[in-house]
Amino acid sequence: MKIALLGHGVVGSGVSKIIDSGRTDELDRLEVKRILVKDESEMTDPRTTLDFNDILNDPEIGLAAECMGGLEPAHTFVKKALESGKHVVTSNKKMLAVFFEELMETAEANHVTLAYEASVGGGIPWIADLTRIRRIEMPDSFRGIFNGTTNYILSGMYSEGKEFEDMLAEAQKLGYAEQDPSDDIDGMDVRYKCSITAAAAFDKWIDPEKIPVFGIRHIRKKDLDWGRSRGLVCKLIGSGKKNEDGISVLVRPVFLKENDTFAGILQNYNAIESISATLGKAVFIGQGAGSLPTAHAVVQDMIDIVTHTHRFAAEKTRAAGTVNTEPAVWYIRTSCPEAFTAVTAEKTGEDTILTKAVSMDELLPAVRACEDPALFLAEVAE
Ligand SMILES: NC(=O)c1ccc[n+]([C@@H]2O[C@H](COP(=O)([O-])OP(=O)(O)OC[C@H]3O[C@@H](n4cnc5c(N)ncnc54)[C@H](OP(=O)(O)O)[C@@H]3O)[C@@H](O)[C@H]2O)c1
Repeated sequence: MKIALLGHGVVGSGVSKIIDSGRTDELDRLEVKRILVKDESEMTDPRTTLDFNDILNDPEIGLAAECMGGLEPAHTFVKKALESGKHVVTSNKKMLAVFFEELMETAEANHVTLAYEASVGGGIPWIADLTRIRRIEMPDSFRGIFNGTTNYILSGMYSEGKEFEDMLAEAQKLGYAEQDPSDDIDGMDVRYKCSITAAAAFDKWIDPEKIPVFGIRHIRKKDLDWGRSRGLVCKLIGSGKKNEDGISVLVRPVFLKENDTFAGILQNYNAIESISATLGKAVFIGQGAGSLPTAHAVVQDMIDIVTHTHRFAAEKTRAAGTVNTEPAVWYIRTSCPEAFTAVTAEKTGEDTILTKAVSMDELLPAVRACEDPALFLAEVAE
């Protein structure tokens, strides 16, 4: 199958490298015909073009891989490619999470596939295994360390006793964190990945805006020291669970017990777990980002499409899900603990409290009432 790459940066160039290497029979079935770039200076390869219409109007091209990032024009290009009968593979979690329902419907209406393995967990075959589980049962729950940048920061703070700012600067120096790290440290990246995972796991698309999110921007070494004194390790966790009233999806730092598998996930690694009736617990660990690991996932999707082996839980129309989170105990560090009086179970320090087991509906009003710009919250695992 002749394919086009939309974007030739970190992921896109990894994709062309893997396909051009053509080491297997499956790779031999793919040929990169066109590469969309943005700037004339990037037109070093004869296959490059600056005009998306060269790809859209080429009937020989059966598949487009969107590796540009951002909402627009990625969304428009993906939609047009699907409408013109081309399969699409994307690594763009933000665009996919926001337009999931619309794009899945467009793919269905045009009898083509929209595949997105690389958008969650980078190189880890998480979506593939999730859809494989779905052939037998719907999982009861998932949880994951979905973001390598924040895991790198948190594991460095814990094992080397460094402050947040130092670890963030180190992550930026190594290329693990962007110059504007907001999407990572504020939990938005994990929010997109949880929205996509919930759709694949539960057939319920949840608008990412509706998923409660707490990041690690304000975590300090003293918070980790508090956890350590109680045998707890802090990780940024995204999770989803089916319950009677809907789906509970949440992104927040969690103090995990030291013997929890996720507590031992170090550096920039990702780990994702599902629990389902007959398989029980299954854990997937690997590189959640990087040029070749992510490109590997993009190319796997392409091979599944070209060999007609794409396992697809998304043929059904997705119904919007309702978010509702279950009661939990929270560690809170704030200069205004009085805002949390109604939910406080124990004052653990001058500016730290532990709450009773409270729902989001009970916790959020207090968070909104508290005008502390450096407020830090983390769930404490049972
Ligand atoms: N990097 C990873 O490890 C990783 C892992 C998982 C998922 N992803 C996702 O994969 C996507 C791509 O990430 P990346 O790291 O490869 O980003 P990147 O290195 O910035 O590459 C994106 C490329 O697309 C180009 N581009 C942007 N708009 C374009 C347009 N309108 N027409 C043609 N080219 C355009 C960019 O050009 P300019 O630079 O000139 O703007 C850039 O070369 C993102 O959605 C990201 O979230 C990345």
